Amino acid sequence: MENRAIEVEKIKKIYGYGRNSLKVLNDVSLSVNTGEIVSIVGPSGAGKSTLLNMIGCLDAFQSGTVRILGKDITNLSIEDLAEFRNRHIGFIFQLHNLLSEFTAVENVMIPLLISRTGKKKARKTALEMIERFELSDRAGHKPAELSGGECQRIAVARALVSDPSIILADEPTGNLDTKNSDMLIGSLLKLVSEKNKTIIIVTHDMSIAERTGRTVTLVDGMLQTDLKK
Ligand SMILES: Nc1ncnc2c1ncn2[C@@H]1O[C@H](COP(=O)(O)OP(=O)(O)OP(=O)(O)O)[C@@H](O)[C@H]1O
Ligand SMILES: [Mg+2]
Repeated sequence: MENRAIEVEKIKKIYGYGRNSLKVLNDVSLSVNTGEIVSIVGPSGAGKSTLLNMIGCLDAFQSGTVRILGKDITNLSIEDLAEFRNRHIGFIFQLHNLLSEFTAVENVMIPLLISRTGKKKARKTALEMIERFELSDRAGHKPAELSGGECQRIAVARALVSDPSIILADEPTGNLDTKNSDMLIGSLLKLVSEKNKTIIIVTHDMSIAERTGRTVTLVDGMLQTDLKK
């Protein structure tokens, strides 16, 4: 369907082989429309990060299909996957994953440089995105010189800087206090809805889940509910 941004159909993910294998996703299906804001909740170890990684073209799975923006990514080569991901998907990791030897603005520039934007334009665009997260005065600092909340906001800026239509956020506020968490989610959701982007947020925090349009629950590798509010 044209307005389906994400279509996951019966994917199975098994880590390892033989007796040591671990079935993590068991025929999981999930469809998300363009512009939808969806949260995924569920206990630790349920497979939430695994599912998000599959949608984000970050890892392979054993069976099933994933279509992103109508394109079946199941059999794409590693190079094609990387290019597709860079162009269409902004990924916010459970741990912020900023590169420690680069400053905040350099970290935010990276996706633009990968897609061959010139350095000057990349810096300008990165600084504009950093401004949206109210961190202009910290742009020249390295991650070790920033607070946890600031690093997390820079990581969100990096995920959004190349204007991807799909944002995947894995517990973006995992280790933040309520105030920082509220601020980050507020800025993120504002930007996402202004630009009609599609977002999936994995979270343990029910107050964040309540701010999304729909919440799905993963338990033991299976989707338990798919409640429309
Ligand atoms: N690379 C891997 N190799 C083997 N097992 C893995 C790997 N990654 C994750 N697992 C296992 O898969 C299961 C699901 O992990 P996953 O990270 O998806 O859980 P989660 O729902 O995101 O948990 P949390 O809320 O703690 O982040 C866990 O039992 C985990 O130990
Ligand atoms: Mg996780």
